[in-house]
Amino acid sequence: MKFAALLTTILAATATSFTPTFLPNPTPPSTSLNANIAIFGASGLTASECVYQALNNGDKVFGLTRNPSNLVIPKGSGGDKEGGVLSSKDLTLIGGSASNKEDVVKIFEGNSIDGVVIALGGKTKDVGETMLTDSTRTILSAMKSNNVKRVSVITSIGAGDSKDQAPFMFKMLMATVMKNIFVDKNNQENLIRSSSDLEWCIIRPGGLTVEPPNGIINVIEGEAGSISRADVAQFCLDAVTVEDFPYIGKAPCISSVGGTSWVKDRSSKAREGM
Ligand SMILES: NC(=O)c1ccc[n+]([C@@H]2O[C@H](COP(=O)([O-])OP(=O)(O)OC[C@H]3O[C@@H](n4cnc5c(N)ncnc54)[C@H](OP(=O)(O)O)[C@@H]3O)[C@@H](O)[C@H]2O)c1
Repeated sequence: MKFAALLTTILAATATSFTPTFLPNPTPPSTSLNANIAIFGASGLTASECVYQALNNGDKVFGLTRNPSNLVIPKGSGGDKEGGVLSSKDLTLIGGSASNKEDVVKIFEGNSIDGVVIALGGKTKDVGETMLTDSTRTILSAMKSNNVKRVSVITSIGAGDSKDQAPFMFKMLMATVMKNIFVDKNNQENLIRSSSDLEWCIIRPGGLTVEPPNGIINVIEGEAGSISRADVAQFCLDAVTVEDFPYIGKAPCISSVGGTSWVKDRSSKAREGM
């Protein structure tokens, strides 16, 4: 079973009896101007949602991935266009590594980047034990050189001080087969947190699915359930495009379906009255 499916199964299996409260769809982000958005790991499942949704929002996207040909229209938001070629006059896709300074600099040079989404991932055996930390250090350095302030970074439920929000079985994985990944994720989070001159948001999703977006993005204080990559992508994009995004300087755990201990605070709801 693939990891994502395994994680979703574990999260579902460990959730206690729960009747979700489906709240109205969130209001669209209050972006007034189109943005230039850099997306690192652009061909990934969540990152491709970010690319696709940003283009649909009218933004310009500058993506970096080691394998540009892997970028296709994502299943969640793409519907029957899933798997099709994802190209646009507003998309610049660069092949390269996020841990390589020369590659990262190409994303920023002359592009007036307004916000950065870091959606990197992969198995340690494929990407290396320190890829997240090394890449994040390189990206943050390039942001500072180019005076770019806003960044959202996907880590995971269980990272940093959210350890107790991971379901029991997931904690077991974190202590064993995922130990090295979580060392890298925690170091990545520490780098972000120590960047006091940036406007950052660390995003810790529960189990990721490739379902269509349901618009339910709950910031949770209890145990995580699952959430579609499409909904995570919306939260990532809001974090870099909404001026008064309420989770700047914070590390919200988000999930949408299942889970326990729901102290609910949807991002759009939280934005009301601010
Ligand atoms: N699966 C879950 O249920 C779950 C739950 C919570 C959090 N998360 C986290 O959420 C994040 C996104 O997950 P996902 O499943 O959407 O990710 P994914 O599909 O594995 O995408 C990760 C992307 O990072 C790219 N990448 C890896 N090393 C790179 C490098 N050095 N330079 C540039 N790009 C690089 C990969 O492309 P190439 O390999 O082709 O370069 C891939 O496109 C991950 O950090 C994951 O750990 C996952």
